[in-house]
Amino acid sequence: MKIRKAVIPAAGLGTRMLPATKTIPKEMLPLLDKPVIQYIIEEAAAAGIEDILLVTNRQKSAMDDYFDYFPELEQRLERSGKAEQAEEIRKAADLANIFYVRQKETKGLGHAIYRAKRFIGDEPFAVLLGDDVMFAEVPVIKQLMDVSEDRGGLTALGVQAVSDSAIASYSSLKVTDTEQRGIFKVEDLIEKPTAAEKFSNYAILGRYVLTPGIFDALENVKPGYGGEIQLTDGIREQLKGEAMFAVDFKGKRYDTGNQRGFLEATVEFALRDKELGAGFREYLSGIINN
Ligand code: G1P
Repeated sequence: MKIRKAVIPAAGLGTRMLPATKTIPKEMLPLLDKPVIQYIIEEAAAAGIEDILLVTNRQKSAMDDYFDYFPELEQRLERSGKAEQAEEIRKAADLANIFYVRQKETKGLGHAIYRAKRFIGDEPFAVLLGDDVMFAEVPVIKQLMDVSEDRGGLTALGVQAVSDSAIASYSSLKVTDTEQRGIFKVEDLIEKPTAAEKFSNYAILGRYVLTPGIFDALENVKPGYGGEIQLTDGIREQLKGEAMFAVDFKGKRYDTGNQRGFLEATVEFALRDKELGAGFREYLSGIINN
């Protein structure tokens, strides 16, 4: 079962990045020269996803403008000998077929995903959270798609072990081993667990392959943590009738939705950059050692 569609929830208010996010969608903040959302869409496109639904809200129209052509700017750049830059700008609009739907009320991640019901129809699909940027050799969503597709299109959740103090900010999974290293069977899961409630330190980190059954499950879910409809609760509901897998993915995840995570991503992406990297490393060691 080939996975062709992805959903990117990008309707959060961005309160952890205020005041900048008062008028700029957090997904449009730049990591080096590209907005965060472009890294996410590039990951999906690199995994072979063709159709992407962005779940946005009334503050996020800068995103639809960004993934459009801008002929006047492109022509001006071409005329002034900057054809490469013109192509770069155009490329962002051609990464995938991008569709938009608004989440009219901020009622949680599960509620945002439910907005994709009509777009998805009856096939498994990828979910990439709009804050979570990955650095990986094989696109993280592709690692999950491979596991799901090999098993006829079942749910695959992207997980990594996080620290004891961090798990309360995520979801915690109860898993059992399969014959393949790094792939687990999901037995249970809980959103934002207390230390006493957690099953393990494996947390879902921003990447999912879900089956269309999630939509029925979400209809039966009551508001959970924070009074919101939680995707984790929907998945838990669905687990009653479907086998699911967790994939300990290879790659590093950055939470660009908060200041510390955004800074880590900025610094590490700069250090890895072909043009900036060497000089920036020297600059950093200079200021740190003085
Ligand atoms: C969301 C999910 C949570 C997941 C986390 C990181 O939480 O609800 O299960 O572990 O993303 O991907 P949030 O960061 O929106 O609080």
